[in-house]
Amino acid sequence: MFYRPAKAYIHLPALRHNLGIAKAFAPNSKVLAVVKANGYGHGICRVAQQLVDADGFGVASMDEALQLRQKGFLHRILLLEGLFSEIEMPLAIQNRLDIVVHSEHQLQWLLNYQTTIVMTVWLKIDTGMHRLGFSSNEIPSVIKRLEQSLSSFNIHLMSHLASADESSSSAIEFTQNQINVFNQVTEKFAFPKSLSNSAGLQAYRASRYDWVRPGILLYGAGQTDQTQNKQTQLKPVMRLESEVIAVKWIKSGEFVGYGNDWQASKDTCIAVIAIGYGDGYPRHAVTGTPVLIEGKRVPLIGRVSMDMITVDITKYSDDINIGSLATLWGGELSIDEIAKCANTICYELLCGITSRVPMIEIQ
Ligand SMILES: Cc1ncc(COP(=O)(O)O)c(C=O)c1O
Repeated sequence: MFYRPAKAYIHLPALRHNLGIAKAFAPNSKVLAVVKANGYGHGICRVAQQLVDADGFGVASMDEALQLRQKGFLHRILLLEGLFSEIEMPLAIQNRLDIVVHSEHQLQWLLNYQTTIVMTVWLKIDTGMHRLGFSSNEIPSVIKRLEQSLSSFNIHLMSHLASADESSSSAIEFTQNQINVFNQVTEKFAFPKSLSNSAGLQAYRASRYDWVRPGILLYGAGQTDQTQNKQTQLKPVMRLESEVIAVKWIKSGEFVGYGNDWQASKDTCIAVIAIGYGDGYPRHAVTGTPVLIEGKRVPLIGRVSMDMITVDITKYSDDINIGSLATLWGGELSIDEIAKCANTICYELLCGITSRVPMIEIQ
């Protein structure tokens, strides 16, 4: 029994549907479904269970990989940042994990560890993002060292796109350049290759190599100028809902909320909804951020509190009452729009739902 009305509904069929869309974009590629950060906040095992038709899972840590193995998932699992310490080597081998190798210290751990088991390593190439990865000119010698080692490795080559979701001409040029660099570095090698994230998968055909690595797309979010025409078929997985817990009229000139941030310019009917930053609703959402109450779009007013927000319902004061259902995102209200209003990205909102919000699965 959940007494507080704030709840996150997880629409399970939408995950399967979105995986189908990812596959349709890249029918000749394998799909590594990215389920890190607890399945982008949706619950890693819950998400993986719906994505069993993916060819593998991408996670950020050994802990996440072991969670999947302990639940019985036999898929390829790739540690996207590789190992954080050498002591993870035997665990990675025992659990048949694929590992990213992005720099010399990780390479040394592999070369120092002797095993008869063939490990799958994904060499990460820095094609311009300058976060993780060997530089292009290091790759041939890294491959040589792995091939000359006493252990055997199944090598893959990968990189990551920094701006594939952006539509400015400089971002498009940058992404094209990353693809070109990746091509140049990898064309001499017959190893499996992987470059695209969700945005690359949708917007850059040339980035779809042997493996694609969609994350946000699977959760039905991440619509950008660059991808919006392609995203019409995606279905949002999470719907964040709560209820109206107070309704009142205030007079012109009166204030609402902390800091007297919002002042009524006319007599106004306001509704208070039981959701706040203590649930993961963004505190920086500005006045005017849309909320759907019983399907009607109304604006947030004043500051977001820990447990509550206030909205202006003057236009619909006859239709909205205590107990009316409020959708904060999901369904007909795009999380990308809410993220924009809070000067953030949908990833942060999805990952930020706090533990006090029950997640309810919709079959
Ligand atoms: C290496 C790597 N590949 C793929 C992804 C998935 O990205 P997205 O959620 O934008 O599709 C991520 C996420 O950050 C990542 O770090």
